[in-house]
Amino acid sequence: MKHVNKGLEGVVALDTQISFIDGVQGILKYRGIEIEKLADMSYDAVSYLLIYGRMPAAEELEEFSIKLRKERNVNPHLLEMLKFCDFENESLDALRTAISVCAHFDEDSHDISEQANIRKTIRLIARFPTMVAAFYRMANGLEVIAPDPSLAHGANFLYMLRGTRPTDLEAEAMEKDFILSAEHELNPSTFALRITASTLSDMHSAIISGLCTLKGPLHGGARKGVMDMLDDISSTSNIEVYVQQHLEHKQKIMGFGHRVYKTYDPRARIYKDIAMRVAMEKGDNRWFDLAREIESVMYHEMVENKHKPIYPNVDFYSGVLYKDLEIPPYLATSIFAIGRISGWIAHCLEQYADNKVIRPRAHFV
Ligand SMILES: CC(C)(COP(=O)(O)OP(=O)(O)OC[C@H]1O[C@@H](n2cnc3c(N)ncnc32)[C@H](O)[C@@H]1OP(=O)(O)O)[C@@H](O)C(=O)NCCC(=O)NCCS
Repeated sequence: MKHVNKGLEGVVALDTQISFIDGVQGILKYRGIEIEKLADMSYDAVSYLLIYGRMPAAEELEEFSIKLRKERNVNPHLLEMLKFCDFENESLDALRTAISVCAHFDEDSHDISEQANIRKTIRLIARFPTMVAAFYRMANGLEVIAPDPSLAHGANFLYMLRGTRPTDLEAEAMEKDFILSAEHELNPSTFALRITASTLSDMHSAIISGLCTLKGPLHGGARKGVMDMLDDISSTSNIEVYVQQHLEHKQKIMGFGHRVYKTYDPRARIYKDIAMRVAMEKGDNRWFDLAREIESVMYHEMVENKHKPIYPNVDFYSGVLYKDLEIPPYLATSIFAIGRISGWIAHCLEQYADNKVIRPRAHFV
């Protein structure tokens, strides 16, 4: 039997046209366009790009946005059924159940034809935010807020969550968050989703595989981990002890390190900037300053111990941003999923279009 690459590290499993990462130079592109440029667009435009493989013309984007806004409402029976989900520990459990229930209400759920997949794509992208906001409000004994079709994806999500319209900067931050979270090549959840799609299972099932994999603290769950860590550390005077103790015991500092990036994650830079701007608008830099100091201590600890520097990843400053947007930690992984859904769907469609069942071998010992 050939050499085993633990964790499939360094293994190239398939060809993709969806995204490109240069982990040494810190470059990320969706469909050939740099993440820095995409971050200033709308989530609808970036979703179109991911799904259809090219930027939409103005009228195509308008038509796509209208379709998404029309499909934001969720079946009230779904909300009724999910009222009793455990939400406050980890909202992703409720979202996972919701997608499973959604499949029963979706007349296309078993159809994996191109037309049916596009219809499901619109419904899924449009409804993820509505479900997360509705569960949050139900879990807190608040009235569920209907989506506002005049608001963009990010602004509408914050509106449904809070019941009041966000500031322009908060709306921009939420939109950027969804864009930055939308796609990242063969990360664990996307790989899990592609394995499911490769068996010609349907889109809802593939997405549930993605959701279950995103949940883990070494993947999408790290964003919640960062928020919990900020609470635990709470003051700059506690940072050194926290970091040193974790490193001594070989425990991971959440929001740092990456399998592919050996340098600064380009998404983390954009998150850092928007998190700082939101903190400044609020007039409360507490979480941002704490995070910046953790980053500095982490860097110096690594260098002093002759370890390669370990940089913040996508989850570090997004965790800080969520704190400043007053989002509770148990929502963090579900909000990540709201952004990731368009990338997941793009991979699902790419897998169906040129399928070979994904089935590696194991070395028997
Ligand atoms: C992302 C992650 C899973 C990548 O894992 P990986 O490629 O298998 O790399 P490893 O876990 O083997 O880490 C390599 C080395 O860096 C260290 N390291 C990596 N991330 C670290 C972190 N966040 N905190 C402390 N040490 C870390 C490891 O201890 C290991 O050290 P060693 O060479 O002395 O044994 C890992 O960096 C991690 O667990 N990060 C924290 C969770 C997180 O933020 N996940 C979100 C990813 S986007």
